[in-house]
Amino acid sequence: MCGIVGYVGSKEARSILLEGLQTLEYRGYDSAGVAVIQAGGIEVKKRAGRVADLAKELEGSTLSGTCGISHTRWATHGGVTNANAHPHTDEAREVAVVHNGVIENHAALRTTLEKEGVEFASETDTEVIAMLAARALRKVRTAKEATVAISKMVSKLTGTYGLLILSKKFPDTIFAARLGSPLLLGIAKHGYLVASDATAVSAHTDQVIYIEDGDVLAVNPKGYQFLKTERNHSVEQIEKVEMSEGLGKFTHYMQKEMYEQPASITSALRGHILKNEAIPRLSGMNITDEQAGQIDRIIFTACGTSYHAALVAEYWLEEIAGLPVEVEYASELRYRKSPVGDNTLVVAISQSGETADTLAALRELKRQGKLVRALVNVVGSSIAREAGGGLYLHAGPEIGVASTKAFTSQLAVLFLLTTYFARIRGVSKAKGKELLKELQNIPVHVKKALTYEHEIETIAERYQDVHTMLYLGRGTNYPVALEGALKLKEVSYIHAEGYPAAEMKHGPIALVDKETPSVIINPRSALYDKVMSNLEEIKARNGPVIAIATEGDRAIAKKADQVIYVPDVPDIFQPFVTVIPLQLLSYHAALARGCDVDKPRNLAKSVTVE
Ligand code: F6R
Repeated sequence: MCGIVGYVGSKEARSILLEGLQTLEYRGYDSAGVAVIQAGGIEVKKRAGRVADLAKELEGSTLSGTCGISHTRWATHGGVTNANAHPHTDEAREVAVVHNGVIENHAALRTTLEKEGVEFASETDTEVIAMLAARALRKVRTAKEATVAISKMVSKLTGTYGLLILSKKFPDTIFAARLGSPLLLGIAKHGYLVASDATAVSAHTDQVIYIEDGDVLAVNPKGYQFLKTERNHSVEQIEKVEMSEGLGKFTHYMQKEMYEQPASITSALRGHILKNEAIPRLSGMNITDEQAGQIDRIIFTACGTSYHAALVAEYWLEEIAGLPVEVEYASELRYRKSPVGDNTLVVAISQSGETADTLAALRELKRQGKLVRALVNVVGSSIAREAGGGLYLHAGPEIGVASTKAFTSQLAVLFLLTTYFARIRGVSKAKGKELLKELQNIPVHVKKALTYEHEIETIAERYQDVHTMLYLGRGTNYPVALEGALKLKEVSYIHAEGYPAAEMKHGPIALVDKETPSVIINPRSALYDKVMSNLEEIKARNGPVIAIATEGDRAIAKKADQVIYVPDVPDIFQPFVTVIPLQLLSYHAALARGCDVDKPRNLAKSVTVE
């Protein structure tokens, strides 16, 4: 959460910073600001609102300079106000600071500073850092001394930070420090960028150094100097991040990304399924077949949509590979004293690769010496780098805050993992080939599922004013129900609950009335008749029903108020197609209600705070 970018070099910082902020806006969009060193000192412009609002405000300003820092905020401490926007400065504007992370002991530090007479202008934890940094830098004479002083200053902070600091004393230098929040240094021909992720530097360079936890460094147009020189800060090449592709024929990124799914699933499978082979190649997992044969349990850990993908995989791995699986919210796993056996494989799943809870859970399990791997979309992200191996989703950038294509790509990769373990654990070659063949057909079915958008739009408009919706499914469609409910909540702000269809009579059925529709996911499967009974139970209580059903199912159309059809695929593959109408339903409900689908309120794409 929060995006930060700094620039020092031969070019005007302002436009580079604003462009960088635009690419980072998915990390937070409550407020934005820049600070640039000018002849007269540090100039700060900041305001509540989007980066575009800041850019407009800067149009008429004289803000100019070649060394600056900037920030786009997802509020943690203090409301969304101009005063709480970053950068923050000390009282004399000797320093300016942008910060991503949370300082847990900020209140105690603030009290101490207030006792010394310091007056704060904001409610943020970051302003405390600005005050401390200014004091720490008062007596230093060289940039090297400044890094030592900053290192001492940050040792007083408890929590997480990716920090950029400007000091009037060093007008051509950016100081940076990291603990727990991502930061990288981009090395361009015209200067250096320091940013919270590669998207902000990729327009200028593909050469980066990943700044590690505990690092403090100084960067000026001539070079950079890390305080901990003994560490290996090697330059790495990043994949070109295509953020500039724009929306093309689409109106929103969420819509574009839903339509990219046939291609992104294909991309997730690419290179893993070799002709005439019945076992996928997963060399990135960095596990030998012999090691895999010893594994007697998998723990998946993730948050949000990634957690729902893991729940689907739990059904797959247990049913197809006979391998016991547990799925844990990373925020819980990180603090649980749960015994993890030596033959357990821990797999963290994350689109962004930066989710603080998932990263912390991964680190904790690594610390315990467990076998930890990751399934990640963003190449070079913290989770990808810290896991001992794993698989990339190769879904391309997901910009819409609501995750869509990452979910189906996660499913694709998780199905590869399932087939791999199934084969390792004795499932026949013929079955392995059959599973992989079906998997490769999935993009075609997903494409077909997307063709029902128009009908879904009509249904979304019909129900746009409801207050609550239930999402019900069984088997692998139960996690899909959870995902459908999450999508609706986050983009349309309609309350929704996902439940196992049969479980609703143990409580949620009390919510059912003629104003509360239920989405019942019931494509033809072994559980079809059972879910049909659940549907009847809702109808008997006058609850409107939107059924997700297999193409050609006329029987369900007689019972449900509306039907959305999905292509006929084998039971185990249904989540790939049943999630599509739920994504579209939430998208159209949000549009009908006038919501900002790509930037829903209170959310951010990359949740880098606990
Ligand atoms: C929902 C959504 C979030 C993320 C969650 C985990 O649409 O996007 O629930 O799935 O914050 O994010 P990653 O996968 O980046 O770890």
